Amino acid sequence: MNSVIEAINHRRSTRCFEEKPVPKEVLNMIVEAGNQAPYTSMTRSQPWRFVVVQDQAFKQKLFQTTFPIWKQSIEGMKTISLELYEMAMSLYNAMEEPKDVVYYNAPAIVFVIGPADNAVSCALACENIMIAAESLGLGSCYVGFGAMVKGNTEVTQTLELKADEAIYGPILLGYPKVNPPTEVATALEKIGPNKKDAQIKWIYP
Ligand SMILES: Cc1cc2nc3c(=O)[nH]c(=O)nc-3n(C[C@H](O)[C@H](O)[C@H](O)COP(=O)(O)O)c2cc1C
Repeated sequence: MNSVIEAINHRRSTRCFEEKPVPKEVLNMIVEAGNQAPYTSMTRSQPWRFVVVQDQAFKQKLFQTTFPIWKQSIEGMKTISLELYEMAMSLYNAMEEPKDVVYYNAPAIVFVIGPADNAVSCALACENIMIAAESLGLGSCYVGFGAMVKGNTEVTQTLELKADEAIYGPILLGYPKVNPPTEVATALEKIGPNKKDAQIKWIYP
């Protein structure tokens, strides 16, 4: 099959990574693919920039910032969808320390940062990154919770986040763990996607 179609069809969110760093050249290739995404001509050139994090201390700061928000949201989910709450908690309980349920201890985190009013273009860059990662044998995950860092000035200053900017992704990157612990694998299976067939209306001669 065509290798691009294969990468698109095969990509699934990865939430368990090997503790193996991703070489900078590989990350650079992936981010460059993100940079080739289409964008609205209103901005004349790409509206986004990228921040690539592999630093452990900064990753820890990110987790300390976003975990309380994750926890509060998941608690709030109890009344909205007990099923979703239980899915999230089963993964949390199965995880070994550090229970990083936001960034899943991914070796690399890519923040796509762009205008708050240009989500479409920036989301296209995110998708390019995830497909490029898949084509190179890496797993990826778009983690909306991972963007909730505005409460930590140190983090926003390091990301150089301006008032009119938003974070898209971030996108986790790393080598998928080959043999996750059984409890983690079971929890991940439950979280796994619930894909339906494409709903297509053909308007055709
Ligand atoms: C806007 C957005 C936010 C997401 N946020 C999270 C998140 O915070 N944590 C997470 O584990 N997955 C997150 N995901 C991944 C989705 O859960 C996942 O893409 C979806 O279940 C489909 O599964 P697939 O990516 O394996 O095809 C997010 C995806 C999108 C597009």
